[in-house]
Amino acid sequence: MDYYRQTQLKEYNSFKTEAFAKILCKPGTISELRQCLSDFPNEKKLIIGKGCNLFFTKDFDGLVICPNIKGLRNISDEEEEDEDIFLEVNASEDWDHFVAYCVERGFAGLENLSLIPGTVGAAPIQNIGAYGAEVKDVIREVVAVDMETGETVSFSNAECEFGYRNSIFKRTNKYLVISVVFHLKRTFVYIPKYTDLNKELENIEEPSIQDVRDAVIRVRKRKLPDEKVLPNAGSFFKNPYISKEHANKIMTDYPSLPAYPMKDGLIKTSAAFLIDNAGYKGKRVGNIGTYPNQPLIIVNYGSSDGNEIVRFMYEVQKTVKEIFDIELEPEVRIF
Ligand code: EPU
Repeated sequence: MDYYRQTQLKEYNSFKTEAFAKILCKPGTISELRQCLSDFPNEKKLIIGKGCNLFFTKDFDGLVICPNIKGLRNISDEEEEDEDIFLEVNASEDWDHFVAYCVERGFAGLENLSLIPGTVGAAPIQNIGAYGAEVKDVIREVVAVDMETGETVSFSNAECEFGYRNSIFKRTNKYLVISVVFHLKRTFVYIPKYTDLNKELENIEEPSIQDVRDAVIRVRKRKLPDEKVLPNAGSFFKNPYISKEHANKIMTDYPSLPAYPMKDGLIKTSAAFLIDNAGYKGKRVGNIGTYPNQPLIIVNYGSSDGNEIVRFMYEVQKTVKEIFDIELEPEVRIF
């Protein structure tokens, strides 16, 4: 396996920030992966799938691992024509190709997560979610390599400790996901959960799984920038959780504040709403700005320096804090 020294990372992050990696490698098999871990036991490590949720503010003084481990196996009991489908998918498969594969075959469970950029291996790391669905709801198991010991470890759904845009993999930064086992269903029934999507499907009596995928793609294309045209990393901030009292206080001035009660008594509100009402919708400072159709997305109009993104992030955070007393937490990882 080749090791690339002093490699430019611009093409390895969808924000297109520039930084050099001390070493970069692209293991194509699990044994190559183990090899590179044992060749550089003392280097700091960073795993990049398609780099759709991170950017750089400085060079990376360590080993960047870009796995290229592909493959998909149907491990369900075919003979029984079971309702339950189990697919084991290797980490470097493209996420949306995989969703399209499932939708074509009528395997239900992933259609709301259509068109999310990235790889299959990245999906459990931040528990990707959209239009009322989260990937945790269809994951049976995640198989990962412990980067310190090189051992393979399997995590049941509960052991992944999934939360909103969170998991044990994101929190510990200790494991490299090599495959994910999905639990999908043959029966599909559309359950209206998300206003945008319901509106898009209102003229179809019983939407098929393909109708739902097509509708999600249309909504996403309308609202979200294509990272190939306008570099970005999707939602920049997490939607914040606040107390009921705090939400009520904000609602005296902003009665339309979105408020979703959570099981723990907290209220989940909308970062997009806060940014919008702080006057930052479509605002641009130099090369960085929020996307006019969805202010939760920070876009890069031409900077190569991640520090410019960070400065803009601070400005948005400071303004939202001043107006709403809420600290927006980045969802994107900053290196
Ligand atoms: N809103 C505004 N102004 C705007 C746009 C939105 O005030 O210009 C408010 C509205 O009240 C709207 C609310 O924000 O109802 C929510 O907006 P949206 O439905 O677009 O969803 P979101 O909460 O902003 C989340 C995910 C997205 C996912 C969408 C759709 C997070 C951090 N983001 O955004 O995920 O696509 O829901 O389900 O949870 C991503 O993670 O990269 C991502 C794009």
